[in-house]
Amino acid sequence: MRIGIVGYGNMGSAFAKALSRSVGKENITVFEISSEKREKALEEGFAVARDLFFLIEESDLILLAVKPKDVKGVLEKIKEAVQDKILVSIAAGVDIGSMEEVVGKDKKIVRMMPNINVLVGRGTIAVAWNEAISEQELSRTLTTFSVCGSLYEVPEELFDSFTALAGSSPAFIFSFVDALAMAGVKEGFSYEVALRIVLDTISGSAQLLRDLGGSPNEWITKVTSPGGTTVEGVAYLERKGFKGIVMRCVEKTSEKAKRLKG
Ligand SMILES: NC(=O)c1ccc[n+]([C@@H]2O[C@H](COP(=O)([O-])OP(=O)(O)OC[C@H]3O[C@@H](n4cnc5c(N)ncnc54)[C@H](OP(=O)(O)O)[C@@H]3O)[C@@H](O)[C@H]2O)c1
Repeated sequence: MRIGIVGYGNMGSAFAKALSRSVGKENITVFEISSEKREKALEEGFAVARDLFFLIEESDLILLAVKPKDVKGVLEKIKEAVQDKILVSIAAGVDIGSMEEVVGKDKKIVRMMPNINVLVGRGTIAVAWNEAISEQELSRTLTTFSVCGSLYEVPEELFDSFTALAGSSPAFIFSFVDALAMAGVKEGFSYEVALRIVLDTISGSAQLLRDLGGSPNEWITKVTSPGGTTVEGVAYLERKGFKGIVMRCVEKTSEKAKRLKG
């Protein structure tokens, strides 16, 4: 599959690198308005198209990786040229219906909501699509994108919630990681060592839950011995409303995503 990427910013470049593992760099072309980023794409081994129409001609699938405010303008320009090619958009808050309004319901549209972890091929990506795309085309698209991370079929009405739960949550997790590492510094470790310890503990805990199953609560009871040290920390988190704070944080993020959409 030949892929054309419009916009080589944070996400466009992350997808280009991840997708090159499934289709090869030689099958990826980039179109970008910033000369600095065009230069970067070339340095990183991707062909750069001189205009949008050349990009479309060279591609079976076009990935729109521009800011939400720029999506409509790009779609207006390419709506005639796109024909039966697959359009994939990762723009936050831009739903399939509003893209169909510009290009028509007969165009094959896939909407994705990724997170930054695509950079290391471990993204968490929501996917929805319209009726114009065939089962075979969809399956080919999903197989191609599976190198970018885990794909979840999500109804569009849950995209804002997904954005909060998986799109924004790396920032919440980085805050938690930083807080734990700083706690390690307070206890006497260097930040660098504390950060490594925290990252190992977090990825080990995630793997344990994944491999051995069971609910997080069951595992909490397994690491807290009666009257022991761990329960002391868990009790403090509960007293301060830790879970409530995290739940409200996701809720507020989701509300903001809905408000932005207007
Ligand atoms: N960043 C995330 O974690 C994240 C997560 C989920 C979804 N997304 C979505 O991913 C999309 C891209 O976000 P980003 O953070 O990668 O943005 P970004 O870094 O600003 O990248 C967008 C790039 O597209 C360029 N561009 C603008 N209009 C263009 C056009 N007509 N043709 C070609 N290139 C054009 C921009 O150039 P200029 O800078 O010169 O305008 C910029 O280099 C957004 O829609 C966002 O909602 C991002």
